[in-house]
Amino acid sequence: MTLSRKPLSGMRELTPGEKRVEDYIVKRLREAGAVYGFEEYETPVLEPLELFLAKSGSELAVKQSYNFTDKGGRKLIMRPELTPSLARMVAASGELIYPVKWMSFPVCYRYERPQRGRVREFMQFNLDILGTSGLQAELEVFLVLRRIMNSLGASPDQYAIRYSSRRLALEILRSCGMTEEEMAQAYAVIDKKDKIKPDEWKGLILETIKDERNAGTVIKFASCSDPNAPWLREAVGGTEAFDEIVKFSGMLKDAGISEALFDASVVRGLDYYTGIVFEVMDTGSNNRRAICGGGRYDNLVGMFGGQKVTGVGFGLGLLTLELFLKTYGLIPDGIYGKQPADIFLAVYSDEERVFAVNLAEKLRNFGVSVEIDITGKNLSKQFKIAGRKLIGYIAVIGPEEVASGRIILRNMTSGIETECKVSGVPGILRDSCVGGGAN
Ligand code: HAM
Repeated sequence: MTLSRKPLSGMRELTPGEKRVEDYIVKRLREAGAVYGFEEYETPVLEPLELFLAKSGSELAVKQSYNFTDKGGRKLIMRPELTPSLARMVAASGELIYPVKWMSFPVCYRYERPQRGRVREFMQFNLDILGTSGLQAELEVFLVLRRIMNSLGASPDQYAIRYSSRRLALEILRSCGMTEEEMAQAYAVIDKKDKIKPDEWKGLILETIKDERNAGTVIKFASCSDPNAPWLREAVGGTEAFDEIVKFSGMLKDAGISEALFDASVVRGLDYYTGIVFEVMDTGSNNRRAICGGGRYDNLVGMFGGQKVTGVGFGLGLLTLELFLKTYGLIPDGIYGKQPADIFLAVYSDEERVFAVNLAEKLRNFGVSVEIDITGKNLSKQFKIAGRKLIGYIAVIGPEEVASGRIILRNMTSGIETECKVSGVPGILRDSCVGGGAN
């Protein structure tokens, strides 16, 4: 029997070239969080199923998850997201200094149909602020998002941070006299607005919300792009939710975050959101999936007993972000064709090998990355290997190099050869910027 060469469908398998692209993005994300004072944390991949049943809702925890019973009879889940684990960690840590500002890069698992922007094993970037209830935390999170997109070269017309408020949606649905059950159904269909065709969506609303007047209100609300719309003020003006969204849109304007757009159809699929919610979307038509999603959750931490701690944050999919960057040609070329080492040391014959290995070690001690021949093939074959790996410099170690202790560095792009001592190599590389890739 021959074994399959493919990994399981939707699982994360990255070649070194693909990993370099991911590392480039991770670096930018980490830097963006760090300049706002966010610290990194880790949580387990395997979690008790009940944690996610209680926090994420059954759609994600049951239908869309990898869950199983382990040898000890425990019901477990491979985390489909990070937020419930974060809430538990914060609830368990007694000595935290609030506001807590944490970030993490979890690999998550969801049993979804693999398609563009959707896989079964994916890395997320999570960034959350816990312990403040004002809108300043939301503003800071939006600022981080703008910085991330900016640092990756995206221009404000290429993406939008679409935001709305779960509380506002709740007020509107309440004003229609809906029951809790009807409201939950309404959220689910509002959430589908940009995922299906407009006619199909309207049909779904009319089918789900039986009362025609209520259905009309939901359609009007979900299509609203102005938090100051007179009809909205008339319907829910004077409520805390309305005042909050108007205030927040003013704060975004004052901060010059022009890529933030009010869009009442953003309600988010997860049950725990209670306030402002948002998604980052490509404004073009190539990427229909959200690059990032998040919002405020007021009741997550308190559910572990103890004090109530409110939070706001987001999860950003590395895959969806990468697809966006590729669409707009924003992955620097140097990352794709990056060499694995600064220098290739070709070895003339086995006579010189001990000297060459020691010399390579000395160069590495100077911080130079060196690939030395380990095949024992002839020189022309060694050169071919170095060329295919795009290594920028080659030095041949033969009898003369052993005798003199000096080497001749050949720049493979310009053809220029420079004779030097080992200690002179880092300077030559620095001057020509070989090894200084885009990341
Ligand atoms: P989410 O909207 O479920 O939110 O996921 C956030 C992001 O993760 C999505 O916008 C998408 O980029 C990425 N993502 C989700 N599912 C997949 C998938 N199957 N394949 C590839 N990428 C995917 C949450 O997870 C919340 N816990 C975020 C959060 C943090 N809210 C507050 N803090």
